[in-house]
Amino acid sequence: MKRILLCLAAILAILPAEARKAKKTFTHETVPVPAVEPCIVAVETEGTSLVFSVREDRQVHQLYYGTKVDAEEFACVPAKQGRYSNGSLAYPATGARFLGEPALHLKYADGTHNTELRYIGHETSDTQGVVTTTLHMKDYVTDVLVDLVFDAYPAEDVIAAHSEIVNGGKTPVSMLQYASSALWFNADQYLLSHVHGVWAHEMQLEHELLGHDTKVIESRRGTQLTQCSNPSFLLSLGTAELREDDGEVVAGALAWSGNFRLSFERDVENRLSVVAGIGPHAAAYPLAAGARFRTPDMLWTFSGKGAGQASRNLHRWARKWGVYGGGSINPILLNSWEGAYFTFNTQTLLRMMDDAAGMGLEMFVLDDGWFGNAYPRNNDDAGLGDWQVNVQKLPEGMDYLAQYAHSKGLKFGIWIEPEMVNPESELAHAHPEWVVQSPGREIYQERNQWVLDLTNPAVQDFVFGVFDNTLQLSPAIDYVKWDCNRPVFSMGSPYLGEEQDRFYVEYVQGLYKIMERVRAKYPDVLVQCCSSGGARVDYGALKYFNEVWTSDDTDGLERVFMQYGTSLIYPACIMAAHVSTVPNHQSRNVTPLKFRFDVACQGRLGLELQPRYLSQEEMALVHRCVESYKGFRDIVFNGDLYRLGSPYGSDHYGLLYVSPDKSRAVVFVYAIRYDAQGGEGVPFRLKGLDPELRYKVTEQNVDHSCWWGDGGTFSGAFLGSGAFNPRLPALYSSAVFVLEEEL
Ligand code: GLA
Repeated sequence: MKRILLCLAAILAILPAEARKAKKTFTHETVPVPAVEPCIVAVETEGTSLVFSVREDRQVHQLYYGTKVDAEEFACVPAKQGRYSNGSLAYPATGARFLGEPALHLKYADGTHNTELRYIGHETSDTQGVVTTTLHMKDYVTDVLVDLVFDAYPAEDVIAAHSEIVNGGKTPVSMLQYASSALWFNADQYLLSHVHGVWAHEMQLEHELLGHDTKVIESRRGTQLTQCSNPSFLLSLGTAELREDDGEVVAGALAWSGNFRLSFERDVENRLSVVAGIGPHAAAYPLAAGARFRTPDMLWTFSGKGAGQASRNLHRWARKWGVYGGGSINPILLNSWEGAYFTFNTQTLLRMMDDAAGMGLEMFVLDDGWFGNAYPRNNDDAGLGDWQVNVQKLPEGMDYLAQYAHSKGLKFGIWIEPEMVNPESELAHAHPEWVVQSPGREIYQERNQWVLDLTNPAVQDFVFGVFDNTLQLSPAIDYVKWDCNRPVFSMGSPYLGEEQDRFYVEYVQGLYKIMERVRAKYPDVLVQCCSSGGARVDYGALKYFNEVWTSDDTDGLERVFMQYGTSLIYPACIMAAHVSTVPNHQSRNVTPLKFRFDVACQGRLGLELQPRYLSQEEMALVHRCVESYKGFRDIVFNGDLYRLGSPYGSDHYGLLYVSPDKSRAVVFVYAIRYDAQGGEGVPFRLKGLDPELRYKVTEQNVDHSCWWGDGGTFSGAFLGSGAFNPRLPALYSSAVFVLEEEL
């Protein structure tokens, strides 16, 4: 039911005309704020409540975020009056008595910096089950309006929060900080868990017990943000360890593919404020008179049952609402990169397609190296920007290849990197003004390439055109791997002239505008988000992309950790996981082929190797693993994840996905460090199963099972007791078991 509680009279009353005149000059006369009837505003999901109180003086404070409560009971909580009374403002702004990390910091045309938001009304609406609560606020002196918008996803226990800032005045306002959301927590200790990394080593988990200073997770890379730091975190309340199955854990993720800032500030009263939004670094965004700025969504979820439930909440939300095409099963593919790199011709590719079809795969993806004629793409120092088929390598053209794939029962995919240009290209010569640069300064290269200026609408047209024209090469192109292989240096846009403060924000907005056009014209084409591997893994991008290339590093052991880190916030259905040969150019580690398969089968399986170099024995294993994966991958894509501990500091690690109706599950276990005891059996307590149901347990991909109970039927309760203890006798032993309800 739609509830409208807009206090229109109050909006008019809050700024009397005389008072508006008074603000023109510095004066001791204070603009009066008419009192309002206090009220409670609650944002609720099935299992959680976020409670705000509107005070008589129109300040809005957050009183609670946690397990579902009767929000109205909070109406009796007396308002704090003392010097710390501002320490829970719903959207704290720089100014007045607020001295903490602001969500909003504005600089007005008269040079002043104070903003004090006051409540003017709120409303709630329901759109297809998503309940939106909007708190309308206004600075009580200027004409800046702020809407705090909370989209509650009841079944998933996820709240997506954003702000909308409106300059209702007649002069521009400079936004120095403009976060999406700020929430407050009350606990005696706070453990922050966060993933960071580097190329081929993304998504490594770190923990930090928060002290009384401010901890900031920030990125200023412009593009390729998540190579180093992901805009997400887990926050454990009242404990010094990240617990998988119990305790209060909040998870947060910012849906933005650009610079970000997440701050964690513990105040003198031990309250913790978490402020999350676009990174304000070199981005004092100018808000013109009359303009409205919408910040990106900040996703929040609260779990009273540890990190596992927090992850599952986000995964469920992502599959239904957050990932383009979430819930559908993406094909098993062979990617040409590690098997052929830049050195191939039509025959090489046809042979790889034959092999892919022979192995039971479902798609062939032609990676880098297919384009450029004046500056052929034979290595990474030329050709980016010139998206014509290279006639030397592929004289028969792209349609020939794509149709050949289809004739073999394979879908066909192709690699592009449309945001970038090599100096050695026709494009760089034709449009030097399209390159990100700063006047008079060197345009630094990385991987021999420059970044295109996506703030420029002409460049947006070009980049959309790259996608569009590539798709026009053949009606049989089903999949595009969209790469982005460097960050921004010496930020600057020839297009923006003196308005360089817009650059970082409008680059990302430009990217999203392009992706809107891509999705409007090509709703069914699968698009992978790649950025030197996992450097663009965020819920802003995932709105448009079906999956991500988790990392260039396909080493089985590294992947155990990276996929664990990814799984904390992102669902398995987005996680492209390929098996390649070892050692390879990213890793010298040598893990058994079966271990690599058993790790890759946790996500969207693929192969990234030259099939003709596989031995007969290896080929037989490939067939077996691919076929078994087809039998259980629906559970990987759409099931609930239960992590069995953590790979950090353990000799063994495991996880299982359980189908939504709990009738089926797939279990993965690994020996990741040497342990002399593993041969005796390693007990894993399987979780998420129905204790009453009886499951038939079948190990996959082996002739002789490593568990004594293989082939037997056991209750969920028994399997959760620790009696499930497969033998993992050596380093890199691994096993996959399918559990099916006995009917
Ligand atoms: C990036 C990607 C790789 C591959 C190469 C091609 O590194 O992450 O998967 O596509 O580019 O140049």
